[in-house]
Amino acid sequence: MAKVKVFDTTLRDGEQSPGFTMSTAEKLRMAMQLDDLGVDVIEAGFPIASDDDFSSVHQISKKVRRPTIAALARANPKDVERAGESVQSADKPRIHTFIATSDIHLAKKLEIGREECLDRITEAVQQARSLVDDVEFSAEDATRTDLAFLCEAVRAALTAGATTINIPDTVGYTFPEEFSSLIVTLFNEVQGLNEAVVSVHCHDDMGLAVANSLAAIRSGARQVECTINGIGERAGNASLEEIVMALEVRKDLTEHHTDINTESIYKTSQLLTHITGIHPQPNKAIVGRNAFAHEAGIHQHGMLKDKITYEIMTPELVGAPGTQLILGKHSGRHGLNNRYQELGHELTKEELDRAYKFFTILADQKKEVLDEDLLVILRHGARKGASRFYKLLELDVNCGSDLSTAKVKLSYSGVSKEGVAKDHGPINATFSAIDVAIGKHVKIKGFEIVAATPGRDAVGVVNVKARINEKTFAGRGASTDIVNAAARAYLNALNKSEQSGS
Ligand code: KIV
Ligand code: ZN
Repeated sequence: MAKVKVFDTTLRDGEQSPGFTMSTAEKLRMAMQLDDLGVDVIEAGFPIASDDDFSSVHQISKKVRRPTIAALARANPKDVERAGESVQSADKPRIHTFIATSDIHLAKKLEIGREECLDRITEAVQQARSLVDDVEFSAEDATRTDLAFLCEAVRAALTAGATTINIPDTVGYTFPEEFSSLIVTLFNEVQGLNEAVVSVHCHDDMGLAVANSLAAIRSGARQVECTINGIGERAGNASLEEIVMALEVRKDLTEHHTDINTESIYKTSQLLTHITGIHPQPNKAIVGRNAFAHEAGIHQHGMLKDKITYEIMTPELVGAPGTQLILGKHSGRHGLNNRYQELGHELTKEELDRAYKFFTILADQKKEVLDEDLLVILRHGARKGASRFYKLLELDVNCGSDLSTAKVKLSYSGVSKEGVAKDHGPINATFSAIDVAIGKHVKIKGFEIVAATPGRDAVGVVNVKARINEKTFAGRGASTDIVNAAARAYLNALNKSEQSGS
């Protein structure tokens, strides 16, 4: 098994993207976590960029001892000198110097020719080697560089003493097969390259950063440059967690491994989120909120039988909280029953059927049905099996002006009834419309609304006491819409009176 070094650039390429700026203390905390994660190299910053950047690299070099600490420098004497100073106290210091090699960058950005570019490579690498033993050279925009010139640039860096040669896909331009053949060509054309470590550094402009990195590894690259949560310039860098887990999960396909302690992946991702306040997108592989969440009924059924059906790695393997079976409108009876069991309720088939009916109504109203909602369902109907004579089919309410207008459609033992009324307040108007529909006037003796679950989309439970034919009946209804809950409570009281024969 060939080892692939993990070069983490969260604190340099990641930090330089919008919104991800970190203080020196935060970078230090992150560097300690990266150490715990097991990365081989931490690129701690770009020391010439600012005093803060210098200080972060300097502090990290003093305090984080196991990994190599790299400092970035353009290929010029001042940058290289400052980078050398910043990593002086590291146990394993590295200077990472770079210059663009593509004609586009040489002509339009640097305004120099190829010869000058080669001279700058030689001088920068030699200077860096006079300061530290471990020198990495990067040919910026390598994938848009003329291949013959790229070989020359790499030869110059090797001759000057570079120990790692990095081939960046700076603008996320390449395709896996193309990148793979570029790496193979370099090994074939540049003598002595296999004595150095070939590294790759891919950006995600077309969503190919991880695929390109994996292709390069399979063609001989032995270092990958990546970031936690894939943060970085523009669309980001290759995501560390995705590369590492791809190699881990598909051991059958590849001979390569990293020394990453995979159980620390989620914690590291969370720390970065905590520090920057920016969450990875919910569907982000490995560390996104939904990475181990299943909502579809078919998937939940499979997961309950055997997790292997829909999970190619366990959440525990990356230190993420366990698999989540989210109860929403796509969930089925199996998922619901399982959650009730977890909550300590064994439901009979009939109870489950009833609970499922309530659940589907609620799931249409809410994105996610919470445990509290399920308990409300149990308390308000699923266990009691109240046979409903009146059923609410439609409710339309207009309120906000002087009088509210309510229009209801009910079914009464299969027969549909409608009523419209205007009254003070939407609930009052709804009760009046129900009265019109059923042809009775019912007196309300008690009325109460309580929020039974937390949040803006809380389930409201309405309790009413209705006086029907000289008797008082308590009715309850629950919904995220309190007018709807009130209508249900009212009908529940009416149905109780029907059941009692009043
Ligand atoms: O994307 C890039 O080319 C870089 C280099 C400095 C390695 O970040
Ligand atoms: Zn980059």
